[in-house]
Amino acid sequence: MNILGINAYHGNASAAILCDGKLIAAVEEERFNRVKYAAGFPAAAIGYCLEAAGITLKDVHHVAVPRNPYARLGTKLLYALRMPSFARERMKVLAKFTGIREALAAAFATDPTALSAQFHRVEHHIAHLASAFYCSQFEEAALLSADGLGDFASSMWGAGFGRRMKIHGSIAFPHSLGLYYSAVTQYLGFLKFGDEYKVMGLGAYGEPEFLEEFRDIVHSNGAGFRLELAYFTHHRTGPEMTWADADKTPVLGKMYSERMAQSLGPVRDPAAPIEQRHKNLACSLQARLEEVYLGMLSRLAAETGMESVCLAGGVAFNCVANGKITASTGFKNVYVHPAAGDAGLAVGAAQFVWHQLLGNPREFVMEHAYWGPEFSREEIRAVVRASRFSESGCTVDELPEEELLRKTAAMIADGKILGWFQGRAEWGPRALGNRSIVADARRPEMKEILNRRIKHREIFRPFALSILAEKTSEWFEQAHPSPFMTMAYAVKPEMRDKIPAPTHVDGTGRLQTVTATANPRYWKLIRAFEEQTGVPVVLNTSFNDNEPIVCKPQEAIACFERTHMDALVLGDFLITRG
Ligand SMILES: [Fe+2]
Repeated sequence: MNILGINAYHGNASAAILCDGKLIAAVEEERFNRVKYAAGFPAAAIGYCLEAAGITLKDVHHVAVPRNPYARLGTKLLYALRMPSFARERMKVLAKFTGIREALAAAFATDPTALSAQFHRVEHHIAHLASAFYCSQFEEAALLSADGLGDFASSMWGAGFGRRMKIHGSIAFPHSLGLYYSAVTQYLGFLKFGDEYKVMGLGAYGEPEFLEEFRDIVHSNGAGFRLELAYFTHHRTGPEMTWADADKTPVLGKMYSERMAQSLGPVRDPAAPIEQRHKNLACSLQARLEEVYLGMLSRLAAETGMESVCLAGGVAFNCVANGKITASTGFKNVYVHPAAGDAGLAVGAAQFVWHQLLGNPREFVMEHAYWGPEFSREEIRAVVRASRFSESGCTVDELPEEELLRKTAAMIADGKILGWFQGRAEWGPRALGNRSIVADARRPEMKEILNRRIKHREIFRPFALSILAEKTSEWFEQAHPSPFMTMAYAVKPEMRDKIPAPTHVDGTGRLQTVTATANPRYWKLIRAFEEQTGVPVVLNTSFNDNEPIVCKPQEAIACFERTHMDALVLGDFLITRG
């Protein structure tokens, strides 16, 4: 039985396919149309999923769409009466959703009546929870989706038992931890969709000087939290998000009110320098988020009596907060879906249909995140041949694995910056060793070099790292797995000088724990690096330059040529700049 999950007309448009309950493929539309966080209809992603499963649209039995326009209809109507512009926007979205069968048929030049699939609407947060629980290894677990907004709610929690999930509660619009973070991110002068993680990185340079003020912006209560709405505008204007178009990155309207500046001081102009006050504000924002988020998780641990928790939703990308869960909430194990944001809804909605609606048992565990496109040795060889590297003074070698890894590790140890392209593309926003830029974590200057030569990011943003999973406890204060780079842990004080490049100013590192089973070749590369240097850690950043992560070999080569990487490994090919 084939189930297609589609996140459409929403940020991070994506598709996923389950065949007899097993995930076969999952990918974001942005990887194909090269528009970051692309919304619209994910026709290319769906096409790839069908191809990977070896089926056509006519072979799809169920289509799962992670949105239910009828959820919280009463609240929506209330807001629609108060805000006509909001009502018009909702009507447009609703019209698009009712046309999903037609859009699907049109994208694949099929007659809509020829589609035998049954269509299901799965509420946004239920799909988030499903993506976390059904992909986890836990038979029983507590569940939390903490997010900006979806189907008029911002959070939902409950518990999963085998094939079933039970919802215990939710928090509805306009109260939202995600929108709280987004509004303060805007106030601090970071206006782009997805800029929250920049502010999270900035927070490490500050002190929580404004924590009391932030406690007045987000109040804790029995349900979890409530926003002091005087600081915001989204409850009056509606959540202004422009994201129906596939060729555009979503845009958010202004979300903070004048009260924010009255309480916290002047709004930062995006072009203005970052002062200590801004760092303290970012730190206080994060500190209050952690109080509320970890407080919700503590209550959930007490309420369910469970040891494990599964997380999804945009807030579940807050790796700094996630790193504190096992120490401060009562949970011993944490699973975060690698695409915890809205891309992951495609997987969750499909799994909800398979397990909860159709009652099938669980057999699948998502142990790695490599569910995207891959390219054969022949395809890569043809692209390399067509690229005329020799004319640009590059050396090209096709090498057996052991030699490839030894030479690559030696180049990293020698301070070279490498593009590393292998196997299937990662699902979710993190490069996890198949579309990565890899560099020497031991060199303090590496962060600055990477920023100057390749990534062009704000200097205050930390770089992430990959570590051999079995070595985690030697280098970090805790050793819980973080296979999808969703945790930041404290680096042991005596190790911080040994891996200065990815160690953040507060002594933490955002880590990917790499096992030999999840990614054998990447594990062997880090192992080869350890053999040569004694350090089982490499700096790992996504293979891109202000664009979606590269997907095809051609894009990897274009990025390599455009930037100043020293070498590129494409499958078995080592391409070195002359
Ligand atoms: Fe969401």
